[in-house]
Amino acid sequence: MSAIESVLHERRVFAPSAQAVADATVSGMDAYKALCAEAERDYEGFWARLARETLAWHKPFTKVLDESKAPFYTWFEDGELNASYNSLDRHVEAGNGERVALVFEADDGTVTNVTYRDLLARVSRFANALKQRGVKKGDRVVIYMPMSIEGIVAMQACARIGATHSVVFGGFSSKSLNERMVDVGAVALVTADEQMRGGKALPLKNIADEALAMGGCDAVHSVIVYRRTGGKVAWTEGRDHWMHELSQAQSETCAPEPVGAEHPLFILYTSGSTGKPKGVQHSTGGYLLWAAQTLKWTFDWKPTDVFWCTADIGWITGHSYIAYGPLTVGATQVVFEGVPTYPNAGRFWQMIEKHKVTLFYTAPTAIRSLIKASEADAKVHPKSYDLSSLRILGTVGEPINPEAWIWYYENVGGKRCPIVDTWWQTETGGHMITPLPGATPLVPGSCTLPLPGIMAAIVDETGQDVPNGQGGILVVKRPWPAMIRNVWGQPERYQSGYFPAELGGTLYLAGDGSVRDKDSGYFTIMGRIDDVLNVSGHRLGTMEIESALVANPLVAEAAVVGRPDDTTGEAVVAFVVLKATRPQGDEAVKLANDLRAWVGKEIGPIAKPKDIRFGENLPKTRSGKIMRRLLRSLAKGEAITQDVSTLENPAILDQLGESL
Ligand code: WT7
Repeated sequence: MSAIESVLHERRVFAPSAQAVADATVSGMDAYKALCAEAERDYEGFWARLARETLAWHKPFTKVLDESKAPFYTWFEDGELNASYNSLDRHVEAGNGERVALVFEADDGTVTNVTYRDLLARVSRFANALKQRGVKKGDRVVIYMPMSIEGIVAMQACARIGATHSVVFGGFSSKSLNERMVDVGAVALVTADEQMRGGKALPLKNIADEALAMGGCDAVHSVIVYRRTGGKVAWTEGRDHWMHELSQAQSETCAPEPVGAEHPLFILYTSGSTGKPKGVQHSTGGYLLWAAQTLKWTFDWKPTDVFWCTADIGWITGHSYIAYGPLTVGATQVVFEGVPTYPNAGRFWQMIEKHKVTLFYTAPTAIRSLIKASEADAKVHPKSYDLSSLRILGTVGEPINPEAWIWYYENVGGKRCPIVDTWWQTETGGHMITPLPGATPLVPGSCTLPLPGIMAAIVDETGQDVPNGQGGILVVKRPWPAMIRNVWGQPERYQSGYFPAELGGTLYLAGDGSVRDKDSGYFTIMGRIDDVLNVSGHRLGTMEIESALVANPLVAEAAVVGRPDDTTGEAVVAFVVLKATRPQGDEAVKLANDLRAWVGKEIGPIAKPKDIRFGENLPKTRSGKIMRRLLRSLAKGEAITQDVSTLENPAILDQLGESL
């Protein structure tokens, strides 16, 4: 870890315009510093003030932070609220029922507007439908759906009745879906017949049926299906129900169920450094507070804005910045079903123009792939569109390289729009380290400074602070309201994984390496320090892919590492030893394709290795540990400089260095 050093030589600084400062809620660095000072001075008072101002409480809280069971912290514990009430009813009651909540654009370009009043009625009907199917407060409901109005309705309906949802990204395989349904103890599954992406219909219900048939899901009494395409699906009478049929029969009022602030709003699975994904458990009060508050601070959200976050509801970004944050503040937002390259790579820019988007939030991977596409075809270049509505741009999920940052700034933002490079994680619930658009001078590639109240720091392997300019481990020193509450059903994994004893047991370990600039104190994220890869902004555990590979009857051993990739940030490279002799030529190519498809089936297409290499063996130390650092060099095609004298069979390095 001591090898993490500052690689940032970026010297360009972009100060916010006088206009941006004047318009902003957090106006200027002094305003930012005043908020930070307020949090330093009276930590609990600061959070209590925000929680009272931002949320509507059914029963006000009297306690703020309870650290007595650390690291199982609680926030606002005796308060009661309902997330769906905060997202919907509140705005209708305030006279904003006719405001458009969702501008939904389908894959084929069809647009549907849903007002807050409509959305409340839809959510209430479906909440009643869930109740009729016997779903109760505290039950877990798995949602395996496309980007859709109905997906958001399903999440909000769970929140309305106090059921805890667990959304599984529609790109995951039946096996991944099964594992998550079993682990979370689901009683119901909400899915769709098919999903439309890039002009193609892809199955969901069929995969869900496969997942349910894999066993362990006996508790799932209801499968509720949104009819998206009308494609043919198998049907299990009694268990399967159409979403529209169930909803039609219901009343459009449903009293929101007040829950305690600590009640789990949702569980979202994410990859870690073991073979099994972990269910990140979030709260209701603290989580919702931060989803809303960060929208106001980081995106400087105003009622006149049109917000668009391009993430999928299957990831945390889609939870915080589609399903909850924008609705809690009462925003109008664009929701997109499709992909950025269909019908062509100008889709994002065309949609920004059409819907007059003011706040745009996407991933560096998308930006990098659209840069390439626009270099090849001027028609899809952002300059061919009117993007003058844009006010603020955001990025999330992975480090953005300064070249891509500058391109985004100049070509999409017209050198006018601040870029907020937001560092956060599934576990943090919302933004943690990010510029504020009307305050922070921007440096391309740096996520700059922590939000007020977020005590981020960089420490060494023993938990001691390191000076600015020296790389180290990114930690958060104090609990914050939106933080992960537990790993579902695995409290030891929560405690040892996020509050490791080696660091003293009280620091939240993010799992990223980072460095702060000597002068400005700005943070730059250096990537993961654990066995986690970041491919296109999606988190993948190397162990998870290795377990998937060795589950194949032909495979004896496998090791997976990441390799830098121009478009996806990192790419998956797998080193595989077969039980039979090492394949060569066409046979190796065919086997590699089979194994890729296998991983797609085991986990999902996002986890498919880009590169597979076969060897007679893997390089190991005398004690039998795989030399991953060496594999990383081989994956990059670098010359081997490490000491390989302990290798039993150095010839395998030539084998493993050979790409197919
Ligand atoms: C990991 C979290 C946050 C929602 C999407 C991903 C990386 C995230 C940034 C950023 C550099 C970033 C980190 C982090 N990451 N944002 N702005 N700059 N790296 O959520 O799947 O929980 O992954 O994504 O490595 O630990 P996630």
